[in-house]
Amino acid sequence: MSTNNVWTHKGTFLLAAVGSAVGLGNLWRFPYLAGENGGGAFLLVYALTIFAVGIPILIAETMLGRNSRRSPIMGMRFLTRTHRTSRAWESIGWLGAASAFIILSFYSVIAGWAIHYTGQMIAGTLSAADAEGVAASFDALLASPALLTLYHSLFIGSSALVVGLGVHRGIENGLRILMPALFAILMVVLAYAATIGDLAAAADFLFTFDIASLSLEGWLAAMGQSFFTLSLGMGAIMAYGAYMSGAASLTTTAFTIAFIDTAVALIAGLAIFALVFGAGLDPSEGPGLMFVTLPLAFAEMPGGTLLGAIFFLLVLGAALSSAISLIEPVAAYLVERFDLNRPQAVSAMVIASWALGLLTVFSFNRWALDSPFHALFGRSAFGLLELATNIAMPLGGLLISLFAGWALTHGEVMKEMRTGETWFRVWRLLVHFVAPAAVAFVFLRSLPQVQGYGIPAIGALVIVGTFAAGRSFLAERNAS
Ligand code: PHE
Repeated sequence: MSTNNVWTHKGTFLLAAVGSAVGLGNLWRFPYLAGENGGGAFLLVYALTIFAVGIPILIAETMLGRNSRRSPIMGMRFLTRTHRTSRAWESIGWLGAASAFIILSFYSVIAGWAIHYTGQMIAGTLSAADAEGVAASFDALLASPALLTLYHSLFIGSSALVVGLGVHRGIENGLRILMPALFAILMVVLAYAATIGDLAAAADFLFTFDIASLSLEGWLAAMGQSFFTLSLGMGAIMAYGAYMSGAASLTTTAFTIAFIDTAVALIAGLAIFALVFGAGLDPSEGPGLMFVTLPLAFAEMPGGTLLGAIFFLLVLGAALSSAISLIEPVAAYLVERFDLNRPQAVSAMVIASWALGLLTVFSFNRWALDSPFHALFGRSAFGLLELATNIAMPLGGLLISLFAGWALTHGEVMKEMRTGETWFRVWRLLVHFVAPAAVAFVFLRSLPQVQGYGIPAIGALVIVGTFAAGRSFLAERNAS
């Protein structure tokens, strides 16, 4: 248990949470998903869920961590006991551990690509390359399972080392330099992309909100991404919240995290799409989008080799600080529950995740177009893992918001929030009804089977369902 293990500095939680939130989700995943799902429509659903659903749940999740002061799984066990709710709520912890394990598996493979590009930049292999050259070099990387596995192993190994040695707390100091540096270099890239690319077309693509153009699965992808990018609904934030000082304000912290995180994604998106439209590339290129556009900017930029190398190193740092927060909750649970030491716990988690990651490795070559996964689920293994993420994270968030909203008492919440009664009421309304209903709505909306019933019918069903859930919660509490 980590009761006496509180981060002493008030701002440390903020730094750690930003380290977790800002990563490949902002630089790699946001632009690629927005590109595949029609730009503005995707951005609209993404931004709405961040602010109406993400922020309240971010507060709720931190609250559960800080209130229990344990790893997510043990913390939920503790909270269900002390609040006399059904043990079924412990599923929040388990679901989170499963998500962490799945996300780490593919996150590490993609971070491996950034290792490759760091090398390419330092070696100067891509300087003076044109769009075709950059794309060809990326295809060559994907075609080699051996190389992808090597990078995947390097990245996951380094993350494991950092967590296993318990030095991840030290990383927070590094983040004080890394995050502003990443931000600064992104602005340089954006400025350069605006001169060689087409910024107007990029802005048009991202800010034209034609919601009708969003496919059914696009809804799910946009909401899933808003959870993914905030590291929400799977225990990472809860685990960090367990160490958060009681003095820091939950509300300010949550808004700050969401603001920084969204800003980084938007800047990366604008830069990447300016390059895409300038060079006549395809916005729906897929997971490779960032890696076939940014090297292009560095190839043409004066001093681009050096800047590119620094950029990819910073991307790796941001990815590392996110990966740490994926390993930490599961490792902390294994330590608490099975009395393992840290290195053992971390190895167990990471070795399993590494093995699962091989599915992603093969999804880009041997199993790109045809695999047992295509036969069974109509998509690659990587596509399936991403779909699982898009479902599991919002589902975890839904459960977290219901639990924090209904099970914690007024006194407990006020003690954690330390804000006025008005904001408390707003927040409670959001986690009682708005967040759960929004998540349920998107889930239903993305099912082809319910399309015929129309949005008002789905909405009505969701609202009735959320009220019913709330009432049964009250009954549960009164009975105990
Ligand atoms: N938020 C991280 C990113 O955007 C990914 C992440 C998800 C980290 C879930 C921890 C937990 O890159």
